[in-house]
Amino acid sequence: MVLSVQGLYKSFKGKPVLEDVSFELGKGEILAIIGRSGAGKTTILRCVNNLVKCDRGTIQVDGMYLCKDDGEKSNYARQADMLKIRKKLGLVFQNFNLFPHMSVLENIVEAPINVFGTPKKDAEQKAMQLLEMLELEDKVSSYPFELSGGQKQRVAIARACALNPMVMCLDEPTSALDPELREGIAVTIEKLAQEGMGVLLITHDMSFAKRVAQRIIFMDEGQIVEERSKDEFFDNIENQRVKNFIGDYA
Ligand SMILES: Nc1ncnc2c1ncn2[C@@H]1O[C@H](COP(=O)(O)OP(=O)(O)O)[C@@H](O)[C@H]1O
Ligand SMILES: [Mg+2]
Repeated sequence: MVLSVQGLYKSFKGKPVLEDVSFELGKGEILAIIGRSGAGKTTILRCVNNLVKCDRGTIQVDGMYLCKDDGEKSNYARQADMLKIRKKLGLVFQNFNLFPHMSVLENIVEAPINVFGTPKKDAEQKAMQLLEMLELEDKVSSYPFELSGGQKQRVAIARACALNPMVMCLDEPTSALDPELREGIAVTIEKLAQEGMGVLLITHDMSFAKRVAQRIIFMDEGQIVEERSKDEFFDNIENQRVKNFIGDYA
């Protein structure tokens, strides 16, 4: 197991957004969290990546506690451990967030060199390996504005891979892409899982979840409503809320 989330609660200004969310992610596993806009999917990713603090709950990343619930509140790891935990997590945002003034290579080596002190030569070597894996070798010196949406998405994924994370979190990776580019991202995600990463995929793109995920969690109004293997999820849906959702998107 590379990620464990237990009893997660989060409110914004008194309004509950996550209520008792628990799930686990295995090594090399691809788990999709699906659900309507506003269900709380992105908030889960932000909690897991320590971009927001949860109110209650325990989050473990590759055996290290990001936060631990003591029965009343969630206590967060110390700064030194936070840095170690951050290294285990890769996060790709919906809109890529590439640095526009940096080349593809510079985008990828920025955090390893400046945040984690990796020697430049090692960081660049790793970056080249990743670009090769994602079939972007010829874009090393390009700038983000020179790339297509699918290429930008893959550079963002390469950048998130640069620290050898155990968990890769992707928020709506296909939402900014033309449908024909989806297959390339599906193949990329499968490669990450084959490398041993656990992949947490947030999406409202049902056909994409069906294409790439091994397990599916359906969320509604801050709660997990359904959790099943991909085949079971699509083959025998009993829950009315899931049926309604799938109906809307079918
Ligand atoms: N920083 C914030 N402040 C206040 N409300 C927020 C904040 N972030 C998210 N929310 C609210 O939390 C709910 C869940 O949002 P989100 O996790 O982004 O949902 P999803 O990704 O499933 O669309 C929404 O109602 C949203 O408006
Ligand atoms: Mg979202």
